[in-house]
Amino acid sequence: MTRFVLLLLPLLLSACELPQQSSHTVLPDPDSEGALVMKQYCSDCHAPPSPAAHTAKEWPNVIYRMQERRRMKAYTLMDEREEKLLLDYLKEYAKS
Ligand code: HEC
Repeated sequence: MTRFVLLLLPLLLSACELPQQSSHTVLPDPDSEGALVMKQYCSDCHAPPSPAAHTAKEWPNVIYRMQERRRMKAYTLMDEREEKLLLDYLKEYAKS
């Protein structure tokens, strides 16, 4: 089991670093509430992603996974209102 985790470690670490390549992401409509939620909750582990990184249909699953990541780190979670603002924002500028 330890061996398995060790094998996976470089993979996990490099996965963590991937999104950081876009550390200069310019967010659309940067002063909107949705963009502010994104900056507040999506910058702890990597640069906030571009909304165009996913389709509107894909975003809810990504957000769910990221909330779980916040939970695992015992970071403050988005409340329902913030989650909705973020989703609406991501969907508005999502990849078509
Ligand atoms: C607690 C740390 C953490 C926070 C906070 C976090 N992420 Fe992530 N994120 C990760 C890690 C680790 C990965 C790489 C592994 C993966 O994809 O799950 C990742 C990868 C991603 C990716 C690339 C993979 C994919 O599915 O496209 C996107 C996009 C992303 N995060 C969006 C977000 C958004 C949006 C938020 C804010 C709601 C957020 N992240 C907040 C840790 C975090």
